Amino acid sequence: MATNDFHTPLCELLGCRWPIVQTAMGWVAGSGLVAATTNAGGFGFLAGATIAAERIEAEILRVKELTGDQPFGLNFHMFQPNAQQLLDLAVKHRIRAVSYGRGPDKKVIGRLRDAGIVCMPTVGALKHALKAIEMGANVITIQGGEGGGHTGSVPTTVLLPQVVDAVKVPVVAAGGFYDGRGLLAALAYGAQGIAMGTRFLMTTDSGVPAVTLERYLKTKDAEKIQVSHLVDGMPQRMIANEYLAMLEKASALKRLRIALALALQWKAQTGMTTAHALKVLWQGLREDAASVAQTVMAANAPMLLQRSMVEGRPAEGVMSSGQVAAVISQLVSCRELIEGIVAQARERRAALAAYDATESSHG
Ligand SMILES: Cc1cc2nc3c(=O)[nH]c(=O)nc-3n(C[C@H](O)[C@H](O)[C@H](O)COP(=O)(O)O)c2cc1C
Repeated sequence: MATNDFHTPLCELLGCRWPIVQTAMGWVAGSGLVAATTNAGGFGFLAGATIAAERIEAEILRVKELTGDQPFGLNFHMFQPNAQQLLDLAVKHRIRAVSYGRGPDKKVIGRLRDAGIVCMPTVGALKHALKAIEMGANVITIQGGEGGGHTGSVPTTVLLPQVVDAVKVPVVAAGGFYDGRGLLAALAYGAQGIAMGTRFLMTTDSGVPAVTLERYLKTKDAEKIQVSHLVDGMPQRMIANEYLAMLEKASALKRLRIALALALQWKAQTGMTTAHALKVLWQGLREDAASVAQTVMAANAPMLLQRSMVEGRPAEGVMSSGQVAAVISQLVSCRELIEGIVAQARERRAALAAYDATESSHG
């Protein structure tokens, strides 16, 4: 068996061996996880939105050091106070790819593309994929509604072929992937690779506290991994817990009080000035209602995610997760994960080829 099978053009663009991407996850995708993914032949994204401004460059250098300078990616959001710093660092350190949501305009993306950086936003709807390409994206990651964190409502099995058929750039499939069957299926749909969040979170390399991972492992009911708008005003998929139950029961006034308290903590932690906070709010107000909600409430999510992912207080925070957590029963290393996915994809490919053989022996 060839050792470079499944080597799609995406692997060339990203400079990785396998078409398997570890997505950015706030507080989870630090230098350790990114390096473990990259050293196992995948492509990892640093979660630049939740790394303190003064630590981000050190984290970039740490990945380089741990991987012997192999390519990796950086995630950013235009609404974070240090967005410009991340863009500058991506160019300075010749980061191979950036991922983002909605936000960067043609000028920003043009600067990144001119520096040879692959621009691969994550989208949850066809119209957003088309808009992102118009803005200059050269790879699209689609995330089906079953995916973790902020997510749309169209499932992967509908969104993926819809986008593959509509665009010319490589498409990466995310939302619900965890094994070799998923990789093979995604390639069959026409994707050039898969991207996974939850599955990489549930590894021994993620650095997430054991008490939190235990909760993920214990969740066997995919219906309990639900979408809520209560955390930051945007649809976000997470494992139902005590904190979400409290938010659901709280009056609008109590929720506002919680939101403001968290916003103040987050503002202090990121060093965001009041002037910047007001500027972000003003920009949001000039755009649309959803972006206002996101801008005002966005302060909540990072603080609450930090409680679960860093502080080991899963009952008091948010456990962002894809529905796929319900079918993941053990923690493995990134290397075991990636090698296992490739082995199973080969096995399933051989099994499918055997159907052809049976057919022709009768025909
Ligand atoms: C704990 C957690 C944190 C996340 N944080 C981010 C983030 O900071 N930025 C981002 O673009 N996506 C974030 N996401 C979304 C993931 O990058 C990814 O798109 C999603 O998990 C894919 O679906 P899957 O979980 O089914 O693999 C997060 C997801 C999880 C589970």
